[in-house]
Amino acid sequence: MPQYDVTVASIRALTPTIRELVLQSKDGSALPPYAPGAHIEIQVTLDGGKEEPRAYALIGGTATEDDPANIYRIAVERRAEGAGGSRFLCDTVAVGSNLGISAPRNDFALETHPMNRLLVAGGIGIAPIISMARRLKREGRPFTLAYMSCDADNMAYRDEVAALTGGTAIFHDESVEAAPLDIKLLAQKMTYPSELYVCGTYAQNKAVVAAAEAAGLSRLQIHEQCFAPPPVVLPDNAPFEVLLRLSGLQFQVPADSSILETMLQHGHTPKFYCGRGECGICPMTVVSADGPLEHRDHTLKPEEKASGKKICICVSRVKGTRLVLDA
Ligand SMILES: Cc1cc2nc3c(=O)[nH]c(=O)nc-3n(C[C@H](O)[C@H](O)[C@H](O)COP(=O)(O)OP(=O)(O)OC[C@H]3O[C@@H](n4cnc5c(N)ncnc54)[C@H](O)[C@@H]3O)c2cc1C
Ligand code: FES
Repeated sequence: MPQYDVTVASIRALTPTIRELVLQSKDGSALPPYAPGAHIEIQVTLDGGKEEPRAYALIGGTATEDDPANIYRIAVERRAEGAGGSRFLCDTVAVGSNLGISAPRNDFALETHPMNRLLVAGGIGIAPIISMARRLKREGRPFTLAYMSCDADNMAYRDEVAALTGGTAIFHDESVEAAPLDIKLLAQKMTYPSELYVCGTYAQNKAVVAAAEAAGLSRLQIHEQCFAPPPVVLPDNAPFEVLLRLSGLQFQVPADSSILETMLQHGHTPKFYCGRGECGICPMTVVSADGPLEHRDHTLKPEEKASGKKICICVSRVKGTRLVLDA
């Protein structure tokens, strides 16, 4: 896979778990040009020593300046779980390390026609979004940027985003805000013609796309990128019924969908962030269940799981036919 040899020219801690790497071509020559939304693959060494490619969005520069042609800038979030590619880039790689990279590829390109843009980032999804924002700002094109997180201290490029947008960016910390970010309202405020670009977790993307569609945007106006594939559907998943006690909403959760996804499809917008059972934003109170809860999250404490009173609606299920939630 590697087509270009680069050296790590500098490293900067952006947050406690995200570091920025500036990669410079080894011989100083220009690297291939790219547009916002592009990514490269880096050959990483996994825990067992195996080498594999991992994709990283190209940031393109600082808040105000583009990088020179022999530089690629990326931001890597350290994922404690997983095969170790991000841990290799965050723990092992140092200034002066040599890496093999691919040519840029763009599956999330910013359309060139004049439009009002709503740019939405969830967590490390800010990487391609900040690159788009810099381009739009330079070209004098209108855009609104919304940046969601579940921890205000873990928002890479927060100051740069604030500076780039002249303070108009919407920062939404799901851990403290009372309600989820109202994407439908933001999309409705955009004057036609408009487009949405979203890069977040799988669950965030689904919710944002659904809200944009509810606001009247067509699929052609919506562009999304997700850094991770959809959650795995376990073979023993079975459908079950959920009743939301307060709203009276009742629906069937299919085997290939989560409680959260099904709720969103039915127009109910609970608080959530990661959609992977990691952030602890989505747990709901269980009123009753006719079978044991199948906890698949990494956030509830063992005693909370054992109590049967809380459930992470993004990943967990009930091994029964009916679950009643206090929502
Ligand atoms: C087009 C594209 C661009 C990407 N750009 C970036 C980037 O700019 N910065 C960055 O840190 N990562 C980015 N990623 C993710 C990156 O390629 C790796 O998957 C990530 O660094 C984890 O690698 P790993 O070997 O540590 O864990 P893996 O074993 O590859 O992953 C562990 C698990 O976590 C999931 N996962 C991986 N990354 C994420 C994530 N960011 N959010 C949610 N789930 C995830 C994986 O699907 C897998 O299930 C991008 C991925 C794609 C496809
Ligand atoms: S949304 Fe993060 S744990 Fe469920």
